[in-house]
Amino acid sequence: MAGESSGPVVVITGASAGIGAALARELAGRGACLVLIARREELLSEMAATLGTPVEVVPGDVTRRADLERVLERAVARFGGVDVWVNNAGRGITRPSLEAITPEDLEVMIRDNTRSALHGMQVVLPHFKARKQGVLVNVSSMLSRIPDAIPRAAYSAAKAALNSLTESLRSELAKDYPGIRVVLVLPGVVATDFGNSAIGGGVDSRTIPGAQSVEEAARIIADGLFTGPVDVYTRPGSLAKVLGYLEGLGRSSP
Ligand SMILES: NC(=O)c1ccc[n+]([C@@H]2O[C@H](COP(=O)([O-])OP(=O)(O)OC[C@H]3O[C@@H](n4cnc5c(N)ncnc54)[C@H](OP(=O)(O)O)[C@@H]3O)[C@@H](O)[C@H]2O)c1
Repeated sequence: MAGESSGPVVVITGASAGIGAALARELAGRGACLVLIARREELLSEMAATLGTPVEVVPGDVTRRADLERVLERAVARFGGVDVWVNNAGRGITRPSLEAITPEDLEVMIRDNTRSALHGMQVVLPHFKARKQGVLVNVSSMLSRIPDAIPRAAYSAAKAALNSLTESLRSELAKDYPGIRVVLVLPGVVATDFGNSAIGGGVDSRTIPGAQSVEEAARIIADGLFTGPVDVYTRPGSLAKVLGYLEGLGRSSP
């Protein structure tokens, strides 16, 4: 906990826009102290200035492990430690078919969605282990469970790899570190810049019918940080969809 406030200290990556910024606003309203990282320094600083909570802004790139080490150092120096670490930064891609995916595309998807979160996990885990507690959150996607958006195939694969790392970590920690909670967040379509920022362009997520508001997604993520299921689906009905999908696979024959 922080000296400046009684709330938890929460690190959020990719906090300059979208889900990360909305989560920062939501948690600021709940009394958290925040440590925020993204590449667009001005945008991040402007957003942070509106939060009304103790906040440390650390401009940086999550694909560089050293930048995340700096985040931890700044969090410890300012607030004495980290209670929650959210690996939220990520990026999509639009390619018309599997054959159109280049090796570089796949590498970039893994770099931005999987390796970046691995860096975050590896940086904060020794800190959490020393304290025997902490909440680690990886923001994945429904597409990791049901990869039914053809243009996003490389992205879905990278997020599925993130799920696998997350679930392996849970198994690894279960016996000796039961106080470390590992949360996987699985949003459906959320109205952010995600579609516009995708490599290869594509549909603006905000124009997709039924896109979830970023405020609602952030509220549900915040509600799931400390209690409830470790897989957090941001939309009602998503878990049932996943179970139905898996059941269909189990029953399908060639
Ligand atoms: N929106 C959706 O429909 C949706 C659905 C499922 C899952 N998700 C996941 O939710 C997470 C957030 O996405 P979003 O919808 O909020 O997207 P967004 O609006 O495009 O925001 C992405 C955020 O990540 C940051 N970021 C990207 N690459 C970064 C890097 N290398 N280093 C540091 N920061 C980086 C961006 O900041 P800078 O550009 O300033 O660095 C920005 O703050 C992602 O992991 C995404 O895959 C989104």
